[in-house]
Amino acid sequence: MGKVRILILGGTTEARALAAALARRVDLDVVLSLAGRTADPAPQPVPVRSGGFGGAEGLARYLRDEAVDLVVDATHPFAARISANAARAAGECDVPAFALRRPAWAPVEGDDWLSVHSVSQAVTALGNAPLRVFLATGRQEAHQANAAPHHHYWVRSVDPVEPPLTAPHVDYIHGRGPFRLEDELDMLQRHAIQVVVAKNSGGDATYGKIEAARRLSIKVIMVERAETAGLPVVETVEAALGPIDHFISSRMKRGV
Ligand SMILES: NC(=O)c1ccc[n+]([C@@H]2O[C@H](COP(=O)([O-])OP(=O)(O)OC[C@H]3O[C@@H](n4cnc5c(N)ncnc54)[C@H](OP(=O)(O)O)[C@@H]3O)[C@@H](O)[C@H]2O)c1
Repeated sequence: MGKVRILILGGTTEARALAAALARRVDLDVVLSLAGRTADPAPQPVPVRSGGFGGAEGLARYLRDEAVDLVVDATHPFAARISANAARAAGECDVPAFALRRPAWAPVEGDDWLSVHSVSQAVTALGNAPLRVFLATGRQEAHQANAAPHHHYWVRSVDPVEPPLTAPHVDYIHGRGPFRLEDELDMLQRHAIQVVVAKNSGGDATYGKIEAARRLSIKVIMVERAETAGLPVVETVEAALGPIDHFISSRMKRGV
């Protein structure tokens, strides 16, 4: 029996962790796919391909050309387009697929959250009085803050925000998670932040700011995920190993 070819759609801590868990398996041939947006991406434990596929059609072509046996969509919970494309392309090519998606955070006692459905809604919800805002929504959507230029923003991203915001009071913080609670407490206090704007990404790597906001009684405007239909979902790397092994054993039974 040949090796099982797995395509992991990545760009997340979980994708890297799953790749690490599969990297040494001699029965697998794993490729991790990145969108190619980050100038200096984190090193990965398996071979990487980079850049868009060209929509669902392009991804379907890739699955056929590369004879991919199994797709794991381990992209970010807010990366909706690639996830929809993965579901469509896998369906078209009859390639088994599932998503590895960390559960969303839920508020706990002491949290002061306002839930909204987009970064633009979050910026509107900041209101008319000028505030000191930590904007942790990522580089791609930071420009929404230009609509409310009366606030002072601290914008954190892995790569520089290009072009910079047109809002007059903006400080840029460059950093790649995971972020430690102590550092987040220090950062929020140092800049006297009054509101945190965050995406409900889930996971541990970026939860520090949420916990820090709770401890400092700072309000969080939380951009919630859109409901997505599509692939079956597992929530942890450990849980992702089950369907992979199930796929391999059913293939062995069929003698493929
Ligand atoms: N959105 C976030 O908040 C966020 C946060 C952290 C990390 N990320 C990561 O950053 C990447 C881009 O996110 P996004 O929100 O821009 O995604 P998106 O809106 O769902 O995707 C836009 C396009 O980027 C390409 N693409 C996205 N992920 C890809 C991957 N893993 N491999 C190859 N092509 C990919 C696809 O291009 P084609 O149609 O040409 O194939 C897709 O149609 C994702 O890999 C995601 O996991 C996103």
